Amino acid sequence: MANQEDQFKKVISHAKEYGYVFQSSEIYDGLSAVYDYAQNGAELKKNIREYWWKAMVQMNDNIVGIDTAIFMHPTVWKASGHVDAFNDPLIDNKDSKKRYRADVLVEDYTAKIEAKIDKEVAKAAKRFGDSFDKDQFLATNQRVVDYQEKINTILKRLGKSLENEDLVDVRNLIDELDIVCPISGSKNWTDVKQFNLMFGTKLGASADSAMDLYLRPETAQGIFVNFLNVQKTGRMKIPFGIAQVGKAFRNEIVARQFIFRQREFEQMEMQFFIQPGTQQEWYEKWKENRMKWHLSLGLGQENYRFHDHEKLAHYADAAADIEFKFPFGFKELEGIHSRTNFDLSQHEKFSGKKLQYFDNDLKESYVPYVVETSIGLDRMFLAVFSNSLEEEELENGTTRTVLKLPAVLAPTKAAVFPLVKKDGLPELAHEIINELKWEFNVFYDEKDAVGKRYRRQDANGTPFCITVDHQSLEDKTVTIRHRDTMEQERVAISDLKTMINKAVAMKEWLMKI
Ligand code: GAP
Repeated sequence: MANQEDQFKKVISHAKEYGYVFQSSEIYDGLSAVYDYAQNGAELKKNIREYWWKAMVQMNDNIVGIDTAIFMHPTVWKASGHVDAFNDPLIDNKDSKKRYRADVLVEDYTAKIEAKIDKEVAKAAKRFGDSFDKDQFLATNQRVVDYQEKINTILKRLGKSLENEDLVDVRNLIDELDIVCPISGSKNWTDVKQFNLMFGTKLGASADSAMDLYLRPETAQGIFVNFLNVQKTGRMKIPFGIAQVGKAFRNEIVARQFIFRQREFEQMEMQFFIQPGTQQEWYEKWKENRMKWHLSLGLGQENYRFHDHEKLAHYADAAADIEFKFPFGFKELEGIHSRTNFDLSQHEKFSGKKLQYFDNDLKESYVPYVVETSIGLDRMFLAVFSNSLEEEELENGTTRTVLKLPAVLAPTKAAVFPLVKKDGLPELAHEIINELKWEFNVFYDEKDAVGKRYRRQDANGTPFCITVDHQSLEDKTVTIRHRDTMEQERVAISDLKTMINKAVAMKEWLMKI
């Protein structure tokens, strides 16, 4: 646990030190759970967004993308159920006066049991060496089986109580598990209450005519209310999808874990409209598709797992999370939800407008069913960033900090260095930059010894460093150094573009999906 915390602290400080993420309004001591993306962070975020958009919209001829407003008619949120049901269960500790999400307190408790399982696995792996079979160990070691059973029982009960809105039982569960406030250490809890997560605001200048609005808590509703507009103008035939990337806002009670849970964040969502009755098949397909997208980035299959929901949101008939192993354990990264025809039917009811599709094959009209994929861009950023940060021991006994970002996502693709600041080397380095900058983000650096410049780019996540030396003036070759292996090779300047492109082009990575 302490190790995990240390690792997470390193991630946060590295993100700041290397210009990836800053706290919002830092000079005013910051704003809780609100962050700014800095010069490198904005690039990384843009690249993740583009990787998702291309995989969804460009690679699928039956998916189109839109960009809808953050403000929507207030009735949208009444129809979608967010006004009545978008709540978190809250509990206060009377001694520390701190407020918590009751379900998170219970989940933190089970995470501690999970950490015990991890410890047992690590111990056994050490004991058995190469012959260790993790799956068999998890299934047969009595202590681990008991731990897992305890976790399952607790989470099942929590899921049921939340689904039935039985807040008294959630409170009882906290009592029975002897959960204490992390600040005061006491069990002096209030009752559990519901708290709506939407931010309210007003449209209009005068107090009496101003209209109450919400900042959207998900981008999905902008897609639902435009379903027919897109279907008609795009002449889309079911099955088809509408994708969108944009900001969403939630007044999170427990805002912590850096950019994992923020009050203002970005979602990448896709609603896939299908024939009623085919939802199970599409749900499975999209679970598989989305996992393939994740795996294509090479962050390691062992860092992902599916988690089927016990507690379903008010709109879903099946739901699963893709969980990722963050520095603080496995947590939700993406949701895949079978949303039935709930949203479109509700919007029909509240707007009085038909939102139906005439199926030429079936010769009938129906309200389509929907399978949704929804991923937080900021969470994906954290997954990529935290997984890539390594403290590597080198053969000569020293260490280096390296950010092994997937090359396709790296903010800067190559740094160009003149070996010395004279003899025409800076000029040639600039010539190379002027050639490469049309295709890639490139960076020039002439300060300090080359070894130091390499280390700076390693920590920055730059996949290639190109060094221009005196030989370059004669034979138009340079040394290119690979970030991950630290291998260096001599290549012709004229080959640089093709070589870098092979490593960083979206096409090369998307083809792995
Ligand atoms: N339209 C469905 C929907 O919004 P969700 O599970 O509430 O479902 C989808 O959110 C994704 O949005 C999550 O898997 C997560 O990646 C991201 N997300 C949700 N709340 C977030 C927050 N407060 N901060 C950052 N990302 C968040």
